[in-house]
Amino acid sequence: MEKTKTFNTTPVILYLTVDHRELVSNLSLLFDFHWNKDNFEAILSSCYSLNIGLFVNNELNGFLLATALHPTASIELIAIHPQAQKQGLGMLLFQHFSEILKNRDFKEIELEVSEINTAHYFYEKMGFTVFNKRRNYYKDGSDALLMTHSLEDHSR
Ligand SMILES: CC(C)(COP(=O)(O)OP(=O)(O)OC[C@H]1O[C@@H](n2cnc3c(N)ncnc32)[C@H](O)[C@@H]1OP(=O)(O)O)[C@@H](O)C(=O)NCCC(=O)NCCS
Repeated sequence: MEKTKTFNTTPVILYLTVDHRELVSNLSLLFDFHWNKDNFEAILSSCYSLNIGLFVNNELNGFLLATALHPTASIELIAIHPQAQKQGLGMLLFQHFSEILKNRDFKEIELEVSEINTAHYFYEKMGFTVFNKRRNYYKDGSDALLMTHSLEDHSR
């Protein structure tokens, strides 16, 4: 089986709605998220959420699901198809998300991630910093890292 996908077409990023619940929950089966179909249905139909998906050749290859309560957005889940990782798609999805929030005058993005999930290195690359920890937060005994990313332009 091929290890990584190769892309002949430009990825397209679209808002996700409740109509995408099957697609999103099917892609999430490739990860250990402990979310069920009802969880996806709830966030995809909530007026307090901001959900975007990354499509390549009309196929969902990634998603970012977030709660967006002005002035702070919280990333609930982000995922890129395992065969499409490490090719810049996660960054593309995050940058698009961050632009939408800046245009809506949001000030900050927060999230929580296990210290043993290497995704926290991705978040650091995206400019997040750890502002607190919840000790022994997860069932496996790992700490939760609480991370924040400012959307304010500090150069002005
Ligand atoms: C986290 C995730 C979305 C990153 O997506 P991706 O498409 O692989 O990330 P990118 O290719 O855009 O990487 C952007 C940068 O982050 C770094 N990075 C990404 N994943 C990394 C990892 N696991 N460990 C270390 N660095 C990582 C890349 O090296 C790259 O840095 P560079 O620009 O210096 O080369 C993806 O790994 C994923 O879906 N993980 C599984 C689901 C998950 O755990 N989600 C987070 C919890 S909700």
